[in-house]
Amino acid sequence: MSDSARVISASSLVKRYQSGDGYLEALKGVDLDIGRGEFLAVMGPSGSGKSTLLNVLGLLDDPSSGTVELDGEDVTTLSDREKTTARKRTIGFVFQNFYLIPTLTAVENVEVPALLDRDSETRERAISLLERVGLGDRLDHKPSELSGGQKQRVAIARSLINEPRLLLADEPTGNLDRATGRQVLDEFTRITDEGVAVVAVTHDPQVPEFTDRTIRIVDGELER
Ligand SMILES: Nc1ncnc2c1ncn2[C@@H]1O[C@H](COP(=O)(O)OP(=O)(O)OP(=O)(O)O)[C@@H](O)[C@H]1O
Ligand SMILES: [Mg+2]
Repeated sequence: MSDSARVISASSLVKRYQSGDGYLEALKGVDLDIGRGEFLAVMGPSGSGKSTLLNVLGLLDDPSSGTVELDGEDVTTLSDREKTTARKRTIGFVFQNFYLIPTLTAVENVEVPALLDRDSETRERAISLLERVGLGDRLDHKPSELSGGQKQRVAIARSLINEPRLLLADEPTGNLDRATGRQVLDEFTRITDEGVAVVAVTHDPQVPEFTDRTIRIVDGELER
């Protein structure tokens, strides 16, 4: 993969957690390049290191050793503040449990990541993102007034508010029935068509139908 085609590149990632007297190696030297607009699924047994990998790729957690490059820049050596800036500029997140704020409406939830540097266009962009995920008629609904699939689509719209180049999703269809899961996966496919890379960690067997590439991680190592 050429440098310009790559949005994120991980080399020799190792993650150790303290465990009793010793340590547990959750990632044992993972190499992974993800291209612009690529839809990648990460599968593997429970406890194999999928969420750990996603957290390290998303700059939410530091690797014990190894590097992560975002757009060719090594981000493992940045300060926490610089990491936060790089993360907000480049990466969106979608989780299994949606993490919507119950007291805010759909459109307000989508605005949340942009609130610190909110401008007059934030509301317009939030509305157009909700229209885009098919929720133009649910702007002022609270999460409790939305179905699971609708909530996940609000979370996807929210993840896109800062125009990320990489969207990281941990079990995005885990709480959805099959048909609703497919709607969410269709939405990811459309997002990748616009050049955003999507990495979805999943146990959902229908996900690989939608992706460009599916990798398996077993006991902290990518299966070749
Ligand atoms: N904060 C932590 N402290 C100690 N050990 C941890 C921590 N987080 C994860 N682990 C351990 O690291 C290993 C990998 O965990 P991880 O959450 O990445 O697995 P996973 O593949 O996402 O599993 P699942 O499919 O169940 O979500 C597991 O053995 C887990 O117990
Ligand atoms: Mg996990």
